[in-house]
Amino acid sequence: MSSSPLSHEALQHRLRFAEKIALQAGQMMKQARVDGGFERNYKNHQELVTSTDKEIDNFLCSQLQAAFPDDRILSEENITDTQGAAEAPALWILDPIDGTVNFAHGQPHVAVSIGFYSHGVPQIGVVHAPFLEESFSAIRGQGAYRNNQPIHVSGLTHLRPALIASGFPYDKTQLAPLINRLAVLLPQCQDLRRCGSAALDICHVADGSLDGYYESLSLWDFAAAVLIAEEAGAQLSHLYPSDFVGLYLDTRDWIITTPGIHHELKQCLLDADGD
Ligand code: IPD
Ligand code: CA
Ligand code: CA
Repeated sequence: MSSSPLSHEALQHRLRFAEKIALQAGQMMKQARVDGGFERNYKNHQELVTSTDKEIDNFLCSQLQAAFPDDRILSEENITDTQGAAEAPALWILDPIDGTVNFAHGQPHVAVSIGFYSHGVPQIGVVHAPFLEESFSAIRGQGAYRNNQPIHVSGLTHLRPALIASGFPYDKTQLAPLINRLAVLLPQCQDLRRCGSAALDICHVADGSLDGYYESLSLWDFAAAVLIAEEAGAQLSHLYPSDFVGLYLDTRDWIITTPGIHHELKQCLLDADGD
């Protein structure tokens, strides 16, 4: 695995900075809920985005630009062009609110996600969930933490007692194969969850409160959380791995589990797809 060209100190500094602005972003979410009245709009006529998503995205981008002017930034609401992401030596990847539908409905599964990649490999991950009071963080090679305590995957070795999470895309026209996966998987595990924040789902695999997770995503949904999961001992793969995109830039059909159920979950989903 290629390592970062940045020194340990430079990564530590970036982690502390990311944690600081993630807490501030969390305060902005809480305040927006108290104030109410944030605007609701739709991207591509279907994907909910609030004025708070944009305000937090602007805040994170301006903070990072000022502190690290040579680093590149990708963010869901401002800078979405992923071209060159595999080559960038210092790339921040931001989701200002992961769980926008939950945010707008007053549900608690909502997080800000701040990832940092070097040459297509995550080096730092911070996921902060203000309403749940959970803050996850990791630096590559140094373990994963929830509220500053080390975390580990569940260690389960069979799918049958496993709690699995997934999600659905905003585009409702392609749901049939995903519903079919649920129908095949549900009798083979303990239960399924759709909590509404991919970043948090992946962090909950990391802390063992979920055993596995699968979904197709966008880069900003998982950039921080996959490192947190990996550092907590999770196994990461894709149901149909791309020959052309690295593991951490491939957005399709992520499977993230405690290692003992990885093969079984994968096989179950392949069976559901008829492969
Ligand atoms: C969404 C959430 C959701 C997942 C969707 C994502 P957003 O992100 O992570 O859990 O199922 O695929 O788009 O839009 O709330 O940032
Ligand atoms: Ca998201
Ligand atoms: Ca978002």
